[in-house]
Amino acid sequence: MCGIVGYLGREKASDIIIAGLEKLEYRGYDSCGICFYDERAKRFVMYKDKGRVAHLKNDFDYDKCNGLGIGHTRWATHGQPNQLNSHPHFSEGDRFAVVHNGVIENYKELTERYLAGVQFVSETDTEVIANLIARFALQMPAEEAIRKTLSVLEGSYALLVVDTLDPHVLYAAKNKSPLLLGVGKRGVTLASDVMALVGYADQYFPIEDKTFTVVSEKDGVSCFALYDILGHPVETKFMTIDIVLDEIGKGGYSHYMLKEICEQPSVVRKIVSKYLPEDRIQIDPETLSWFKTAERIYVIAAGTSMHAGFVGKYLLENIAGIPVEVFIASEFAYNPPLLVKNPLFVFISQSGETADLRACLVDVKRRGFRTVTITNVPTSTLAREADKFLEIFAGPEIAVASTKAYVGQIVILAILAVALADRPPFDLHKELAKVAVAMEAVIDKREFIHGLVKAKITKRNCFYIGRSLDYFTCLEAALKLKEISYIQTEGFAAGELKHGTIALIEQGVPVVAIISQKAVARHTRGNIREVCARGAEKLVIATQLVSDPTDELILMDVHESLTPLITIIPTQLIAFYAALDIGKDIDKPRNLAKSVTVE
Ligand code: AGP
Ligand code: GLU
Repeated sequence: MCGIVGYLGREKASDIIIAGLEKLEYRGYDSCGICFYDERAKRFVMYKDKGRVAHLKNDFDYDKCNGLGIGHTRWATHGQPNQLNSHPHFSEGDRFAVVHNGVIENYKELTERYLAGVQFVSETDTEVIANLIARFALQMPAEEAIRKTLSVLEGSYALLVVDTLDPHVLYAAKNKSPLLLGVGKRGVTLASDVMALVGYADQYFPIEDKTFTVVSEKDGVSCFALYDILGHPVETKFMTIDIVLDEIGKGGYSHYMLKEICEQPSVVRKIVSKYLPEDRIQIDPETLSWFKTAERIYVIAAGTSMHAGFVGKYLLENIAGIPVEVFIASEFAYNPPLLVKNPLFVFISQSGETADLRACLVDVKRRGFRTVTITNVPTSTLAREADKFLEIFAGPEIAVASTKAYVGQIVILAILAVALADRPPFDLHKELAKVAVAMEAVIDKREFIHGLVKAKITKRNCFYIGRSLDYFTCLEAALKLKEISYIQTEGFAAGELKHGTIALIEQGVPVVAIISQKAVARHTRGNIREVCARGAEKLVIATQLVSDPTDELILMDVHESLTPLITIIPTQLIAFYAALDIGKDIDKPRNLAKSVTVE
């Protein structure tokens, strides 16, 4: 995963890199580092820190000129998150410095074959890259040595390389991991995500796989050239950066997560304005026809996006009558089901960069199947590489715990389901308007929900139970609570608990029940009684229609197929306040990263 930033130009590289790394920290934040050229001392300097970028920037106070540099914020795959393993990595003898996002699968073989006798400082696969370049550069120019290194690497990489013998050139290469190049008036910036380019580049483009880039300086002006694997020049098309700085700030909130939870009503309204302007569904007709004619839809996703996929399955099957199967991406890639003859593959991903999904996408495209991505990032790899994509329009989601993108994904799936139905079963425009209002009503009660958390979520474990659509909410609610508070939480189909897991219920264990579906409400209430009889601390969240006066939180009614959009809101707030009260790092939970770009 990790985020990388590089800069060559007339501004202070160290400032641009630190600011960029701060915006990329969502991608990994267990350690970080920077290497740049001190123009007065005429040498490269390096700073690394086991902690966060905010820490790193206190490690040095650099007022001297430095126009070239590279930086990294890490999510460790090889070796512990400590200072030695943090990037940049130098080759033995300190000629080349490298930052890397990805995993080099054959790093051990490469070490044995080419690097006998090299003294490695770290446990990372990345250090092998730096040393391979140095080894090859003994016999050829740096550029050629990097190209030769790329030709032997297997795996994923976005790489930035500096040669300390030439402080006017920055090299970059990429395969599978994302890397963008941005151009501004005063230099060229490279980064893992467009957010790190905002403010420094006016235009940018995503670098394609297996492309090698040389950024250099001629007469004080930075320029760049792109080559394919054989060294042939590659053409590119620039895009304009349309993110404004405000969108990636906290906007007065204490945490990104809280801001993003509170933005959800406006996300629903925004999606409605994009896909349902003046009440008419506006989706590319060819995309719709692919859904209509497919024998079966295969939804491929991970984590929260997979939970949205479960809700999508319900909606597409029940409203549009189209069979859908939902797969964990990392399982589908290596244990695929027997496919129907005419499938459609739908990839759901907030980031559009999840490596598990991409492995499936590459495979099903190779087999000639149609693919559609539903993503929040229109410039992402999955958006670019699928045949079609539908944008979520949730705005940048920075907190690692996904909230507004989940809601956005479900809204898109609901719109699709209604668009594909022979006869629209309800007035979606009107119903989604009600959803936005009901969401606001829950968000307004957030201090009350905070009180419930203080009173009830007091143990090291917790259960969410629900049936039918509410079960999917439980899965997502449990993921949210565990990922940011580290409270061990399970989302259970309410009827399944008694088949084993009820053994874990003891005095005071919180069981949160979600009830919004009339057909199963009575059954879930029976399950609540079962756990309460065994000492559980209940917290019932129900919609008005199926509520009981003893319920702890009652939500406004919305159409029964759309309740996942509102029942999820209190559970996001429960997770937020539970983590807040025990002092966890809510926006950057331990061991996680926002964009999971390694398989
Ligand atoms: C969400 O809170 C999680 N951090 C995680 O499960 C996430 O949904 C998953 O990694 C998939 O990411 P994507 O939607 O960007 O593909
Ligand atoms: N594999 C490299 C490491 O462990 C890079 C990981 C990343 O992409 O963050 O350091």
